[in-house]
Amino acid sequence: MNIPNQKKILYGGDYNPEQWPREIWHKDIRMFKRANIDIVTLPVFSWALLQPSEERYDFQWLDEITDLLTTNGIRICMATSTAVHPAWMAKAYPDVLRVDFEGRKHKFGQRHNSCPNSPTYRRYSRALAAELAQHYKALPSLAVWHVSNEYGGECYCENCEQEFRKWLRARYGSLDELNKRWVTRFWGHTFYDWDEIVLPNALSEFWDDGTRTAFQGIALDYRRFMSDSLLACYRNEYEVLKQITPAIPITTNLMGTFKGLDYFAWAPYLDMVSWDNYPLSTDGPANMALRHELMRGLKGGQPFMLMEQTPSQQNWQPYNELKRPGVMRLWSYQAVAHGADTVMFFQLRRSQGACEKYHGAVIEHCGHENTRVFTEVAELGKELASLGDAILGARQDAKAAILFDWENWWAVELSSGPSVDLKYIPQIQKYYQAFFDLHIPVDVVSPLSDLGKYRILVAPLAYMLQPGFAAKVESFVQNGGTFLTTFFSGIVDENDRVVLGGYPAELRKVLGIWAEEIDALFPDTHNKIVIKKNLGSLSGSYRCSLLCDLIHAEGAEVLAEYGSDFYAGRPVLTRNRFGRGTAWYVATDPEPSFLDGLIGHICTQTGIKGLVDPVVGLEVTERSSEKDDFVFMLNHNANPVKVDLGDVRGTELLSKNKLKGVLEMPGRAVWIIRRDQKKR
Ligand code: GLA
Ligand code: ZN
Repeated sequence: MNIPNQKKILYGGDYNPEQWPREIWHKDIRMFKRANIDIVTLPVFSWALLQPSEERYDFQWLDEITDLLTTNGIRICMATSTAVHPAWMAKAYPDVLRVDFEGRKHKFGQRHNSCPNSPTYRRYSRALAAELAQHYKALPSLAVWHVSNEYGGECYCENCEQEFRKWLRARYGSLDELNKRWVTRFWGHTFYDWDEIVLPNALSEFWDDGTRTAFQGIALDYRRFMSDSLLACYRNEYEVLKQITPAIPITTNLMGTFKGLDYFAWAPYLDMVSWDNYPLSTDGPANMALRHELMRGLKGGQPFMLMEQTPSQQNWQPYNELKRPGVMRLWSYQAVAHGADTVMFFQLRRSQGACEKYHGAVIEHCGHENTRVFTEVAELGKELASLGDAILGARQDAKAAILFDWENWWAVELSSGPSVDLKYIPQIQKYYQAFFDLHIPVDVVSPLSDLGKYRILVAPLAYMLQPGFAAKVESFVQNGGTFLTTFFSGIVDENDRVVLGGYPAELRKVLGIWAEEIDALFPDTHNKIVIKKNLGSLSGSYRCSLLCDLIHAEGAEVLAEYGSDFYAGRPVLTRNRFGRGTAWYVATDPEPSFLDGLIGHICTQTGIKGLVDPVVGLEVTERSSEKDDFVFMLNHNANPVKVDLGDVRGTELLSKNKLKGVLEMPGRAVWIIRRDQKKR
């Protein structure tokens, strides 16, 4: 679903008029118009004002500001304001308050604070959403619904415990089945009554400050249950909004690689994906890009909304550096390059008090537009207006995909052993970085995605396999696909039970190997990957660390061997021909140059070329509409770089210059090149 009547990349962000007197609203709107701001998100945290008491709603101030915005041609991303319950509600109905991991019942405070299974919260949040929808259904500027805000967190109250038991009953049917799945004969945990099951927290299954659990099975199911509970809150509001305003898309703002929620499970219930992008400059452009790919991947490549980013700085990092001149623009276009059809900020005006007063804003505390930040915002606003609808709806056409699975992420990091340093995201990042450096477009997919359009599927650290996934990989490879997976893969089922008979169990056949043991290396210790015969640019030896699987080839070709320790000479990189395709196994955690070489080689073998020749710090992506191909080039370096455009030639949309051949690209520059000739 799209935003109705969208004619350009919408530009704007979160606005909190309820914190300001009317005169300021008028000043702000004048400045919004100067900056070409045409969408405003509100009211995100105003439940207490919208519903001063149990019996009364008051939308008067919201009517006034929405009228003012509407008359001024500004569209509204209408939030339902349910991300913080009013203090009166906490007092009257303590079931809305959360209980934390330590088992402490919270009092009123902060935000994102409601127990997701609280009947009071469910009832009143739905009622407020319904009131808002009834009240604003005819508002011509209503563009999108923004349900609650950044869902997350968890609750361990008694009500959640009851709901967890129900959820488990629905999932497993019987206690026998549950006992089997959780392997409860271990440490004498057999359950004879559903009510014996308690939530896994600091008072039960966790120790070491909550970092370790005795029972992965229950801990994993609790993660799934919390993700589902919060999703139920979202759906509870979604349903009434949809009934009343079927033509208005509904979303909630996600947070990229946020661990708490299985966004792939959420995506079917979002009409559009929207997300909040708060990177650090130290993240590096590839890690930032990866989060955009993931967010775009949630709905199979459908363009998304960049719902929030700071125009200048954050307040919640330990050190909140300013975005350097040009960086806000560069990162905004990065989002667009990866599929954003809106560019929005948190926040349009800085608050005077409380914890976000030092968070960057379009309008700063000085209250006028003669600032660096406002000037940059206004310049970008003008540019986005000049792009019109050219890019809207355009999609990326990638031939390579990286697998991402939240449940696997939880499972990997709940695991006790083999190494505390084992983390999921860095492994995804490493493989993504190799494609990024080669300027090869990548999609991020889930175990349920259709793999038909891809030639390469990389599944880093595929520790837990979803039911049916191995069979899917087999048919992908059988039909000519190239599959790559890594150490510690194919180990457990969806309940974190080891699949017996030798790792990587269900993937053994397609990979043509089996792993007998797994060695965990101390930090700063290494082994070596010694290449047997050059593979593209891969030659000689490379460092590896973290984990080393001790594998046997059973059909696969051994392309590299370990260089030291008692397993020197044993396989570390293998390739197996299977059907018409190939399956690779990387048995350890290699240094980046190894992955650059390996991914480069695999791409060459499968006929996938980078959009242009590699340049360090340059990012290149492509979005294609029915009519046109748009190549985005972003120079993340502060300094100029030389780029060879190769077969990319066309009109650069921001400058209207014709570009081709070898060119110097200024530091932090952005080029959006519409190809003269659309690719087939
Ligand atoms: C999140 C929230 C906003 C604001 C910003 C600050 O994204 O959604 O309300 O707190 O963080 O960075
Ligand atoms: Zn609860």
